[in-house]
Amino acid sequence: MLFTRKRMLAALAIAMVSTLALAGCGGAKKDAAKPAANDGKKIVLRYAENQPKDYPTTKAARSMADDVKKKTNGRITIEVYDSAQLGDEKSVIEQIQFGGIDMSRVSLSPLSEFAKQLNVLQLPYLYRDGAHMWKVLDGKIGQDLLATLDKSGIVGLTWFDAGARNFYTKNPVKTMADLKGLKIRVQESSMMMDMVKAVGANPTPMAYGEVYSALQTGVIDGAENNWPSYESTRHFEVAKTYMLDEHNRVPEPMIISKKTMDKLSADDQKVIREAAIAAGKVERQLWAEREKTSEKKVRDGGSTIVALSPAEHDKFVKAVQPLYEKYGASVKDIIKQIQDVK
Ligand code: GCU
Repeated sequence: MLFTRKRMLAALAIAMVSTLALAGCGGAKKDAAKPAANDGKKIVLRYAENQPKDYPTTKAARSMADDVKKKTNGRITIEVYDSAQLGDEKSVIEQIQFGGIDMSRVSLSPLSEFAKQLNVLQLPYLYRDGAHMWKVLDGKIGQDLLATLDKSGIVGLTWFDAGARNFYTKNPVKTMADLKGLKIRVQESSMMMDMVKAVGANPTPMAYGEVYSALQTGVIDGAENNWPSYESTRHFEVAKTYMLDEHNRVPEPMIISKKTMDKLSADDQKVIREAAIAAGKVERQLWAEREKTSEKKVRDGGSTIVALSPAEHDKFVKAVQPLYEKYGASVKDIIKQIQDVK
């Protein structure tokens, strides 16, 4: 608790410096429609990342920072703060909204709490596979939905990959029925809570950084995440059963505060947008590699990997259908368009 508060204070302090740095660089103008001219002063942008230094998303952020530095001859610096140094995702998103933190890469799950229309993109069993998801995100649907973030004070820049999420538990499980009544940690997202309830377990929302000790102390019986996160957090050491149910794919937008973006000149905005798209490509490549090395590490580490029979897999698909009513009723047309993407 104390640690969290300390970290929060540190984040706020940095946030204030961040805002001042940008305002002080002379780019600040109130009229969002007319971006400021680039007057040659240095700009420092703070970028929050909750994954560790060697994680694909963090590496891609650093590659973006290098790119932007090069393209602006050192005028724009993006400082990447990894490992949740600037706070957990929920508080980072809040700070992005008021311009305290400039940029971040966040999971769509907590972000959808701030922009409910994005929930549709993380519905369980929505995509046939990763390739299908990328066609959707890179196409009109993904780009249009990313643009709707503007209403929430956030500008969506690009999509990062985060693979498919699977359940993992301290005690062995083999089927959906085995999850019944287990306390499963979820992200701070109403849809993820409903998803866990739908498969018969009890959702316990908490920040990512708290999961390891919650598993260790038995506050929760399990959690769910993709291979690289299960591995990098070392959750696989305390929750040794990983069940390949692939309940959903939760893509991860790179975002920038609208307040920050509006203070940049049109040319600088273009540099940021292009560098973000390039970083997205870097991340996807790094992600594909990391999924494999993480899987190997986890298997070598002694986890039991449970593959599901088609019949068992179908039970999961059926169980989560009520979520399509709750979260999809008003966007049935979008769901249909997504399903129709070939
Ligand atoms: C993934 C994602 C993180 C997120 C985490 C979580 O690891 O990359 O951004 O915080 O899931 O489950 O909270």
